[in-house]
Amino acid sequence: MFHGGCRRQTRLGVHLKSQPVPEGFAQAARNTPWPWLRISFLTFLTLDGNVWAEMSVWVQHTTPVCAPSASVVYNTGRYDYRNLRGGVANRKTIERRMGLSEPAIIKTELRDTLGRALRDLRISVIDNCNLRCTYCMPREKFGEGYEFLPEDELLAFDEIVRLATLITSLGAKKIRITGGEPLLRKGLPDLIARLANIEGADDLALTTNGLLLRSQAPALHDAGLDRLTVSLDSLDDDVFGRMNGRGVRVAHVLKGIDAAHAAGFSTIKINAVIQKGVNDEGAVALAEHFRGTGCIVRFIEYMDAGNRNHWDLAEVLPSKILMERIHAKYPLRPVERNYKGEVAARYVYEDGSGEIGFISSVTESFCGGCTRARLSADGKLYTCLFASAGTDMKAALRAGESDEALLDRLASVWGARDDRYSELRAAMPEHERHQRKVEMYEIGG
Ligand code: GTP
Ligand code: 5AD
Ligand code: SF4
Ligand code: SF4
Repeated sequence: MFHGGCRRQTRLGVHLKSQPVPEGFAQAARNTPWPWLRISFLTFLTLDGNVWAEMSVWVQHTTPVCAPSASVVYNTGRYDYRNLRGGVANRKTIERRMGLSEPAIIKTELRDTLGRALRDLRISVIDNCNLRCTYCMPREKFGEGYEFLPEDELLAFDEIVRLATLITSLGAKKIRITGGEPLLRKGLPDLIARLANIEGADDLALTTNGLLLRSQAPALHDAGLDRLTVSLDSLDDDVFGRMNGRGVRVAHVLKGIDAAHAAGFSTIKINAVIQKGVNDEGAVALAEHFRGTGCIVRFIEYMDAGNRNHWDLAEVLPSKILMERIHAKYPLRPVERNYKGEVAARYVYEDGSGEIGFISSVTESFCGGCTRARLSADGKLYTCLFASAGTDMKAALRAGESDEALLDRLASVWGARDDRYSELRAAMPEHERHQRKVEMYEIGG
């Protein structure tokens, strides 16, 4: 069974439906060297009168690395078939003519139904938190009696490492550890050391509220953590104390950031969720404070995550307005994203004093480039921040599933993925927006 249409390429020409596939090609398509590989062709008449054949190489599910539902294009090219006519029936000739070698064809590329690869894995290691941010875990709903997951319901480190290894083999290159508050998880540096050893996981990052950094930053750095992001929504003690729901003071977080610098973390990112009428007036001050320090502040539009924060569109300050406010005082210039699928739009100060970013999931959604999978603390795999259900990987692990079966399960979930909540949000009827959604503290934002 083959899936997926040919990846569209820019071509000047007319598709010749009636054009017969040249005999050499037809034969090659019937007799590929690998049972799981098929070649298909489209022929075109170009404006200059030439006939071109476009060749697509498709891979069928036979190995555990490809989900049955995944459509995987290994290589798509455009070739002048006249050069290939005659004698393209064997693999060596095809490879030579295509300029391919076997490994180049075999490179795996798992894609979801919208063509998005799996590149980032975000692992929540605990659902509990030592803050009660109003937009995430409002105090009235997460009071002293609230029961977070007991330890045996959290994924164990062995289980996390096993899943992370399998997910990395499907294409993930970045792992981000989140919570709740991840530094509350006992023995976290041990987990980090093990994740840092996974082949293919090139970037290991962590998002924290910073309260425990003073004591833990050196151990995290020594364990091999590459990057740190600290949440801080305001520099004003009253505003910050109200937003974090526990009256925690700004100095506490700033000292954590200093400790992280001292421990060797170089470029620390600062995440600030901006709510209109709550902390937006302090946003310029936040940018100002971290200018020239090497820290990168990222302003996040307040999102309708979960079902418990009484989200209201009227409280969203569009990033564009905020960017203009900062630009008016400190001229900014946009710069390219660091990598495909980066959620933050980056800007640098014209005077060279650093970088800031805007994450605009409400006003400028970025679902098209979304390559993120999320693993909740209780072992469910979510393919969207706004999903209502996840796939229970913990149950599969604890039922004794083999690596092959787990891999198949993971790849099938990704292969079937069609999430794009932020893109659909604006046109969504009210009742659909209120359907049950996973909470931010369960999957770490
Ligand atoms: P880098 O690796 O440094 O680029 O980090 P990141 O921006 O991918 O991760 P981070 O945890 O710092 O993301 C910041 C915030 O952006 C999150 O807390 C979310 O609020 C939001 N965000 C991240 N990923 C997504 C996403 O896939 N969808 C939506 N809607 N928001 C996201
Ligand atoms: N909107 C936007 N970001 C949120 N976060 C949590 N809740 C929300 C929300 N409603 C993000 C913040 C925080 C991270 C853990 O999750 O960036 O720093
Ligand atoms: Fe805790 Fe982060 Fe949620 Fe705040 S946003 S309550 S720090 S998990
Ligand atoms: Fe990805 Fe869902 Fe966020 Fe869109 S809304 S960017 S699909 S996590």
